[in-house]
Amino acid sequence: MKKYALLGITLLGLTMHSQASIAADKLNLVCSTEQPWCDLMVAGFEEQTGIEVAMVRKSTGETLAQIRAESANPKIDVWWGGTGDPHLIAAQEGLLQPSGVDTSDLLGWAVNMSDISDGNTVGIYAGALGLAYNSELLAKNNLTAPACWKDLADAQYAGEIQVANPNSSGTAYTELATFVQLFGEDEAFSLLTDIGKNVNQYTKSGSAPSKAAARGETAISIGFMHDMVKLASSGFPLEIVAPCEGTGYEVGAVSIIDKAKNLESAKKWVEYALDPATQSRSVEVQSFQVPSNSKSSVAPESPNLETIKLIDYDFATYGSTDTRERLLSRWDAEVKDAPKN
Ligand code: G6P
Repeated sequence: MKKYALLGITLLGLTMHSQASIAADKLNLVCSTEQPWCDLMVAGFEEQTGIEVAMVRKSTGETLAQIRAESANPKIDVWWGGTGDPHLIAAQEGLLQPSGVDTSDLLGWAVNMSDISDGNTVGIYAGALGLAYNSELLAKNNLTAPACWKDLADAQYAGEIQVANPNSSGTAYTELATFVQLFGEDEAFSLLTDIGKNVNQYTKSGSAPSKAAARGETAISIGFMHDMVKLASSGFPLEIVAPCEGTGYEVGAVSIIDKAKNLESAKKWVEYALDPATQSRSVEVQSFQVPSNSKSSVAPESPNLETIKLIDYDFATYGSTDTRERLLSRWDAEVKDAPKN
């Protein structure tokens, strides 16, 4: 009898132990960068830690919507990548928790994200917004090359411009916020409406328009320059333009979700994501953002943020719920369904 009781206790111990290790060895991740980089990051992490990662790729605005919807019982542990403003908004809404990661080797713009959010999010990369055109298609359609944001309102580009929808895409929200900071809110909306008359499609993901321009499905795209560089260096006839008025930029971020079920694994992911050895691997998948750790290597193809005319992007303002909701409602009302040229 005693023997059976002991065996029972041992078995119970084994079960408890294996349940604990199952819980500690998993991570649910939403990745908001390009799919090949998401895959590389996951494979590297699994190899280094033995933690099994379940990953889904989603655009930044879509991820914010999911985190809000699941706030009582989150399915995601960690959110890696995507533009920083929606990460800051999630922090402001109490949907994240601090990772406690050491930020001493990070560049100022990455630490700024942590400072604004009380340590609830932190910068992983930066990249500037720009426009691109397919030089073959432009020549074929007898169009002149755009050099400025305002050029895009010219009726010669009717049906030739593609850009993402700022509700789902962080890239397009960066564009919206950039226009407001460059031109003032009313002028920004009138320019976006005029450009909208030439837009053939508002896509869900931010990098889709440049991929379409590379393939010759649209002549002009708005997006991040590093995504365009990837396509141009793969041989597509894409010319990249830093608009004459100046431009905005993103600080991509990583965040741990409030009430994450695999907190220790999530903390390990954040450390891994900021490690220079990890960040320096992005070049393997032609992801040419500027990495946030000062010790990471920067690919020669990375657009040089010091030579591009950048605005002093106000992350605290544009990464707040009120501003985003106001700008998105105006975009829905004034820009989305604007009549076409
Ligand atoms: C691409 C870029 C990233 C950016 C992301 C935003 O993947 O390479 O730098 O953060 O787009 O995605 P979204 O679909 O939300 O615009």
